Amino acid sequence: MMLDAEKNTDHWPKDSLRLERFAPKLIQRDEPDRAFEVEFAASAATVTVGADESILEAAGRAGLPTISSCEEGTCGTCETPVVSGEVDHRDSILSPSEQEAGETMMICVSRANGTCPRLVLGA
Ligand code: FES
Repeated sequence: MMLDAEKNTDHWPKDSLRLERFAPKLIQRDEPDRAFEVEFAASAATVTVGADESILEAAGRAGLPTISSCEEGTCGTCETPVVSGEVDHRDSILSPSEQEAGETMMICVSRANGTCPRLVLGA
């Protein structure tokens, strides 16, 4: 039903439709995920995020402080400022305009865009 609502209103002005999700959006990718680097500017630390882990998991592995709750892109707890880089938004919270602006990302599910080898985050 949510997909139908999105599909049937895609001609509306951007961000006109607001949906409240209790389960994450289904994200389909044509290519497998790959590893990339994330610099946590506030912590002066850089970690490699493996193809099979999230930024949140990589940060935790490196001992960096993070907060999270749902870990599926639906609550917004892990929202993190983006300093530079292109984000592949996979959350179910940010509006299309917010995703396009790329000022923040949900590090539990979103990744670097396939052509972006490095993200810099303000955390
Ligand atoms: Fe809920 Fe990331 S922990 S959106």
